[in-house]
Amino acid sequence: MDAFRIVGGHPLRGTVRISGSKNAALPILFSSLLGGEFTLANVPCLRDIRTTLSLLRQLGIHTERHDPQDGSSHTPATPEDWNGIFTLSDRDTPDYEAPYDLVRTMRASVLCLGPLLARKRRARVSLPGGCLIGARPIDMHLRAFEKMGARITIHHGYIDAETDGLRGTEIALPYPTVTGTENILMAAVLARGTTTISNAAEEPEVTDLARFLTARGARIEGAGTSTIRIEGVAELHTADYATMFDRIEAGTFLVAAALLGDRVTIEGIDPTPLRPILDVLRAMGAEPHIEDSSMTMGVIPHPVGTTVRTLPHPGFPTDMQAQILPLMAIAHGSSSVIETVFENRFTHVMEMNRMGAAIEIHGSQAMVRGESRLEGATVMASDLRASAGLVLAGLVAEGETEIKRVYHIDRGYEAIEKKLESLGARIKRVQEDQP
Ligand code: EPU
Repeated sequence: MDAFRIVGGHPLRGTVRISGSKNAALPILFSSLLGGEFTLANVPCLRDIRTTLSLLRQLGIHTERHDPQDGSSHTPATPEDWNGIFTLSDRDTPDYEAPYDLVRTMRASVLCLGPLLARKRRARVSLPGGCLIGARPIDMHLRAFEKMGARITIHHGYIDAETDGLRGTEIALPYPTVTGTENILMAAVLARGTTTISNAAEEPEVTDLARFLTARGARIEGAGTSTIRIEGVAELHTADYATMFDRIEAGTFLVAAALLGDRVTIEGIDPTPLRPILDVLRAMGAEPHIEDSSMTMGVIPHPVGTTVRTLPHPGFPTDMQAQILPLMAIAHGSSSVIETVFENRFTHVMEMNRMGAAIEIHGSQAMVRGESRLEGATVMASDLRASAGLVLAGLVAEGETEIKRVYHIDRGYEAIEKKLESLGARIKRVQEDQP
């Protein structure tokens, strides 16, 4: 297994290009099950994207990667061999099953439910299990599909859903679930009549999906607000689209800049969706210089502690919670993080404490004492964002840090070690336990 070895304390300087968003690309790729053909650019080279492409191929989607050099269409394994442009087309096969071995490795596979039901009127999808950060049920997705006219049963760990044709209806979500909103949106696009989703997720990735579907001829109003109205259409037409930037990757590099930046510029971004992250960084002392599609930040010389509550957008994203903790650990005064989205998202805290942080967990709250001097240690990554938090802690710690199980980070960050290295960080990928 791969590990990262980091020698901390080296200043970061330069420009880094932010990749396309995993959580925006995934639903757009799954929407290929709605039929027709489209080309998507700015698709990041990540393990979850490769898993999605293989699941889609099993479900009868033809996936072609554009390679300006040789026109080949293999699925590449590394960022160097990847230009992020794919054409997806539906071959109209009768496949409708997402098997356990793929769903198990990626919960977002449930995003095939909505489009399969809408187009093939049938879906068989392995029920995703709980995951380390929380139970993560999908009851809200299923209740919505039932309300739209699907019959759903669960047997032997599989969701079996079928319908004689989905119809538009009013769906009031008990919580603004992100993939739930996306699943319903995709189903509603081809449903008969009008669907209204209230208490919809307002995440920028939901808006990106809606913008893409609209470019394909869908009729959607209100994406990005809490009420989305979708008028069903008979079919979608072809379109070319580029996935939005990854705001969590951008936020991760902004924290790296706040910790160690001589002068770090992130480019390929739109500042608006970053506002909730910037508000917290500013409260801790950051002074970002913002342009239309880039942002430059340096180290915060005397960071001050603050309180952060993770919330659905436009609140502070739970996906940035692990990354802000190392900054809180070295800040003056105490800080606290209240995690309201997932019930068990503090697995990184024990590892950060092994590096010298002083963080106590009380229920859903992490209390950070501040003014700690972090020291390198051998630590274990436990999930995607937790790994990113540990990388940031390793960058600012004194001495050497080894982070084991970095396969978690490869699910969501495109070559993070190469991007950090290009800014001057001392980080390399090694085999675990390699001397
Ligand atoms: N929930 C339910 N029932 C449902 C759906 C959700 O109880 O039917 C609960 C969840 O258990 C959780 C809360 O509602 O406590 C929020 O879950 P949500 O459905 O919004 O999360 P998600 O759609 O499963 C997406 C991202 C996550 C991100 C969350 C919150 C994708 C593929 N995943 O998950 O991303 O943390 O929204 O913003 O878009 C990551 O990238 O590391 C990641 C975990």
